[in-house]
Amino acid sequence: MQTTLSKSGPLKGEISVAPDKSISHRAVILSALARGVGTVSNFLLAEDTLSTCSCIKQLGVEIKREGSRLQIFGQGLHGLRESTSVLDCGNSGTTMRLLSGLLAGQHFFSVLSGDQSLNQRPMKRVMEPLRAMGADIWARNNDQNPPLAVKGRPLKGLHYRMPIASAQVKSALLLAGLDADGESVIIEPERSRNHSENMLIAMGADISVHRNEITLRPGRELEPQDFLVPGDISSAAFFIVAASLVPGSELLIKDIGINSTRDGIIDVMREMGGKIDLHNRRIIGGEEVADLLICSSSLHGVRINGEIIPRLIDEIPIIAVAMAFANGQSTIEGAQELRVKESDRISAICSELSKFGCEIEELVDGFVIQGNPALSENKSENTQVQSHGDHRIAMSLAVAAMCLQSDTQIMGTDAVSISFPEFWDLLNTIRS
Ligand code: S3P
Repeated sequence: MQTTLSKSGPLKGEISVAPDKSISHRAVILSALARGVGTVSNFLLAEDTLSTCSCIKQLGVEIKREGSRLQIFGQGLHGLRESTSVLDCGNSGTTMRLLSGLLAGQHFFSVLSGDQSLNQRPMKRVMEPLRAMGADIWARNNDQNPPLAVKGRPLKGLHYRMPIASAQVKSALLLAGLDADGESVIIEPERSRNHSENMLIAMGADISVHRNEITLRPGRELEPQDFLVPGDISSAAFFIVAASLVPGSELLIKDIGINSTRDGIIDVMREMGGKIDLHNRRIIGGEEVADLLICSSSLHGVRINGEIIPRLIDEIPIIAVAMAFANGQSTIEGAQELRVKESDRISAICSELSKFGCEIEELVDGFVIQGNPALSENKSENTQVQSHGDHRIAMSLAVAAMCLQSDTQIMGTDAVSISFPEFWDLLNTIRS
């Protein structure tokens, strides 16, 4: 699919964005392991999270859906069944990595595969620590990439210092550790998103967290919960930047999860001069939630690196768009993980933003942008840009296109259905 976008007038109104993807995946997986029926309200109905649902169903767990509310008939830690066919994780790295941890300690054999993009992504990061727990797990291309084959067997606990901050790897190890023989201790270099820990605590697991160190003692059954999923800050991010950049905008984004391991974009946009107010702060289902009021403002360049990177890793493509239209130079470093996401996001951002006339230099672990508010005056006719099959690149380019004088044609826009199927409709309701 291709989409043509033109310059937008002020963005006004009140919106809700897609439910949180990370929390939706985890709510289904953890509920499947609980003993009894759990529910998930405001579940994200998008390709990635539906991949998780279909894999979990293949493992013998019944899921009933009414609108965006799921009822999950948990089978306990030992009640999953072998799937008769390959578990298709689609485009979803979270599905594949979390399930590899879950399946490593089961009493049956599983094969996990994905689409062309997922089957190129690195899996050794999760396989190595799982093997240290005793897992029998193999992968294509000398154990680098999916498909993965997992012959479940009893596991032992693990003391592991993670070389990179990854919530997917951490969560896979926690899932494997739930039924291992002995405690697991996982130490992260920087804190990554902590939804798995929060949900496991709520479900009664014996888990404690001290700064970057998580200790899990196995053996407790998980109690089913009624999870309520907040709005996804990673989806709100496109509207935060759009309303900051388009003059005259005033946009209220309701019910957004502002968990402190996810809110780096708010800090960075404020540091750039963005006007973001948080209203109605409250706790819903163990997660902090707020309504975000965004007013347009003039932005200036910043330098980002270090511990903030995992707190905004998925938002870097859209932050790059904010930087392109800001005054002065911006730099992002220490984000080499972006090279192994749904696309090589460093290369994708650099090639596509330069098509708009943005001056951007690629680094191994980030980029340097010479920001220029006058970029929006660029009148080059009908620029054509590519999503690289990556949902977050597609939506970032849409926001850039809304700031430009002339029309932009974005190729591969169907990718948004991975995380935010209503993105285009929502955009049309608020733009003038
Ligand atoms: C996610 C963790 C992050 C993030 C991804 C979702 C999760 O990946 O980029 O979009 O839900 O655990 P890594 O664990 O590879 O950092």
